[in-house]
Amino acid sequence: NWSMENFVEKTIEELRTKCKGKRVVLGVSGGVDSTTLAVLAHRALGTDVKAIFVNNGLLRYQEAEEVLANLRDRLGLAVEYIDASDRFLSALEGVNDPEQKRKIIGKVFVDVFYHGLSDFDFLIQGTLYPDVIESNAVKGPSQTIKTHHNRVKEVEELEKQGKIIEPFRFLFKDEVREVARILGIPEDILGRHPFPGPGLAVRVIGDITREKLELLRKADHIFISELKVTGYYDKVWQAFAVFLPIRSVGVMGDERSYGHVIALRSVTSSDGMTAEWGRLPLDILERVANRIVREIPGVNRVVYDITSKPPATIEWE
Ligand code: XMP
Repeated sequence: NWSMENFVEKTIEELRTKCKGKRVVLGVSGGVDSTTLAVLAHRALGTDVKAIFVNNGLLRYQEAEEVLANLRDRLGLAVEYIDASDRFLSALEGVNDPEQKRKIIGKVFVDVFYHGLSDFDFLIQGTLYPDVIESNAVKGPSQTIKTHHNRVKEVEELEKQGKIIEPFRFLFKDEVREVARILGIPEDILGRHPFPGPGLAVRVIGDITREKLELLRKADHIFISELKVTGYYDKVWQAFAVFLPIRSVGVMGDERSYGHVIALRSVTSSDGMTAEWGRLPLDILERVANRIVREIPGVNRVVYDITSKPPATIEWE
């Protein structure tokens, strides 16, 4: 008689049996998966668990502050904060190719996180079932859809040593949310949209600069704020802005402008494996577009992505 409550109880028991009295570390991002995992591990092991939060410089508007406040103040977790923004952004300078970006981010993450780990017995990861299948794609490495950094070589090495624990590897996103509810994680935290590990790096199309990131953060924040006040944030699976690598001609007063273009994307989905483009009310889209071009100097055009997955993916890169 399998239920999520049983899963939670069983996982807590297993963690206790395996890890009690050992040094256990886990990475947290503020997302639903890692937060749920951290709370679950904390519930099972208390102070034997240390959570580590790496800021890769690719987070959204005021995200690092918000995540730390959630984890420390609201959930009572012990969190070590590492701001590695400069290392990530320098390594990404001039890089255009999406897979190259993921590889570099994965590599710097390994350097900062995995190589930075000292004296631990177990590393708990929030790898989900879709990560496992998308990365170990059926057709071999050249067909791998997207590289997820839960699956890098260093992890495989640790795996061989028996140090990796992945309690969610057979779960889908919605099931993790169920686990989160059972653990009493507040709705606003567990309702956070999924956010990719490589963060805004795969939402700035082409090469990444601090200026583009800044601009994208503002646009994304406007979009998300409007979705929250209208109640649409909770109705979609994900919503975000994308910085496009083109300029377009516009007009401001009698002046011709040649500005940046922001794409908005929202999708509905139940597991992220397939997705439908989000049928948001046009007046919300209009308000968001108006605010973006009015409030963000240098942006003169906003477009909305109306492709579903497949054939598109949710992210643009
Ligand atoms: P795609 O773009 O493949 O996204 O349709 C499916 C879901 O996965 C997220 N995503 C990622 N998550 N590392 C991650 O941790 C990645 O490299 C990555 N790429 C996409 C995406 O946001 C969506 O929820």
